[in-house]
Amino acid sequence: KTELLIVDKNVDNLDTYPQIAQAATFLKENEVVAFPTETVYGLGGNAKSDEAVLKIFEAKGRPSDNPLIIHISKKELLNEFVKEIPETASLLMEKFWPGPLTIIFQKKDGVLSDVATAGLETVAVRMPEHPLALALIDVAGLPIAAPSANRSGRPSPTTAMHVWEDLNGRVSAVVDGGPTGIGVESTVLDCTAEIPQILRPGGVTKEQIEAVIGEVKVDPALTNLKASPKSPGMKYTHYAPDAPLFLVKGSRDFIQQLIAEKKHEGLKVGVLTTEENGDFYEADAVQVCGQRTQLETVATALYDSLRSFNKSDVDIIYGEMFPNEGVGHAIMNRLMKAAGHKIVEES
Ligand code: TXA
Ligand code: MG
Repeated sequence: KTELLIVDKNVDNLDTYPQIAQAATFLKENEVVAFPTETVYGLGGNAKSDEAVLKIFEAKGRPSDNPLIIHISKKELLNEFVKEIPETASLLMEKFWPGPLTIIFQKKDGVLSDVATAGLETVAVRMPEHPLALALIDVAGLPIAAPSANRSGRPSPTTAMHVWEDLNGRVSAVVDGGPTGIGVESTVLDCTAEIPQILRPGGVTKEQIEAVIGEVKVDPALTNLKASPKSPGMKYTHYAPDAPLFLVKGSRDFIQQLIAEKKHEGLKVGVLTTEENGDFYEADAVQVCGQRTQLETVATALYDSLRSFNKSDVDIIYGEMFPNEGVGHAIMNRLMKAAGHKIVEES
């Protein structure tokens, strides 16, 4: 029932490619289609249609109070559905669009589906930096609402296979354009406030944003668990593998000791590590996730690593931690959510 449309993202004239035309036709008919972006795969639908957007929520099993990001292929389209473009947003669009930065604007009424924006007066918008995504949005000629193409609560998909695992039979098509590059979702930045605020850390770092517009704030709820997050999606459990994940603040010897204790109790133990320590651990499943010295590689591999633990059928997972800066900010944010904030500390 779900069509798999395979497209080589490097071919010329993507906008006349039959698979893209087919996917665009689905979008115009208010059907939903998964497609790759530079961050993760998205599940797209016509952002002007309640019918299409409801299909997205339904396919994902997503709570209806969690608004979607609207994807566009041309900056000019923005004026159709946002009230104003603040100076800060303008500078950031110039620098980072297309790219993994989502900006929140005041919404113009009556253009987009209110279901897509969960009834809010603001709207989140981004222009993805992926030839396939841009061609598809362009050919459809519509603003495209697209959350990550996973079932709610699961790690976001970075390959068409991940999407297939979660959504086969639930969507009209999956456009397979190979693995995504960045691996964690876009940064969500609220530009409606005097001082812009990061609501979700992601592909563009705080440091990179500050280099363009000066000081930005970070939603306190990202570090203080008692505060309620301004981005509705950040309050839900997310990204979690089936087995409980514990992050470990401590040496690798300490981590190996934890693994040994659990194995002794008869449990199957997984460990999430990087190339530097891959050979060190003796566990039932050792997932090597990029190189610690190059955090971008960790981001790229993160969700696939989390998903892989489900295949090895482990009972418990220990994970190394990462520095909370640069793209490490996004990595730690996702890991903390995947772990339900469970941390084991070496005394
Ligand atoms: O990289 C990405 O952003 C991917 C790809 C597919 O583009 N999309 C993505 O969408 O991650 P999703 O739906 O999984 O996450 C969107 C986040 C949620 O946390 C949501 O609550 C927040 O953006 N959001 C959307 N509209 C908002 C608004 N008006 N105000 C505050 N947060 C908003
Ligand atoms: Mg998501």
